[in-house]
Amino acid sequence: MDKGLLRARERLSSARSLVVLTGAGVSAESGVPTFRGPEGLWRNFRPEELATPQAFRRDPKLVWEWYDWRRRIIAPLKPNPGHLAISELEKRVPEFLLVTQNVDGLHRLAGNAKLVELHGNIWLARCVAEGTVAENRELATIPPKCGCGALLRPHIVWFGESLDEDDLKTAVEAARNCEVMIVAGTSSVVQPAASLAGLAKESGAFVVEVNTDETPITGFVDASIRGRSGEILPMLVGGAR
Ligand code: OAD
Repeated sequence: MDKGLLRARERLSSARSLVVLTGAGVSAESGVPTFRGPEGLWRNFRPEELATPQAFRRDPKLVWEWYDWRRRIIAPLKPNPGHLAISELEKRVPEFLLVTQNVDGLHRLAGNAKLVELHGNIWLARCVAEGTVAENRELATIPPKCGCGALLRPHIVWFGESLDEDDLKTAVEAARNCEVMIVAGTSSVVQPAASLAGLAKESGAFVVEVNTDETPITGFVDASIRGRSGEILPMLVGGAR
């Protein structure tokens, strides 16, 4: 077995606090498209036309059509062994937080409850006038409207928008205080999520990366394991308490 994997298993098996940070790669084996890379969404779509507040003001119908297309892809998909390994870790490690950039809801489906969805959730919609957030699985019209008559928007953090302050604070505090951090399936280029691994490392945590490719954090983490999260994460968890 890979040396990094062995060391990571060992650290994980004695850890009393753990943060898992995930990105689109963790959902790739379930069939959710990633954003970057050869098959990534941002190869064929322009974020400034679909994932900014300006784009929504200009053409809410187009933006919702894109989200509706993505929802139809995601709706039938199931958590994969990577998601399930992470939900197992929540049961085993006393202080646990999952910080995900994924908006697909698959971590919740896998059973994780101690989680922060830093970039929102594709199954939630928010009233642009009242700011209220509610589950939204069916679109009666595109674009959908709130009972108050105003437009609903996807409850997603778009480019140029700030993350929810409380969510970010929770994530940063957990990163600063964990013994081990696992960073899985993220290109580590979108801030502020990308800086959480550095924070954890500075604070003395053992940081493990699981990714099919190298990323900007590969050079400073304690173990960087090359491979699919659906295969590597279950192997890592096999060694946890
Ligand atoms: P990216 O698409 O940028 O990166 C996916 C990462 O997963 C890459 O580093 C791949 O090498 C890796 N990867 C792919 N398949 C994998 C697998 N089976 N196992 C392990 N790793 C794999 O996705 P994110 O880093 O999540 O924002 O992107 C961050 C944010 O940028 C997203 O949350 C999204 C996007 O714009 C919003 O939607 C607000």
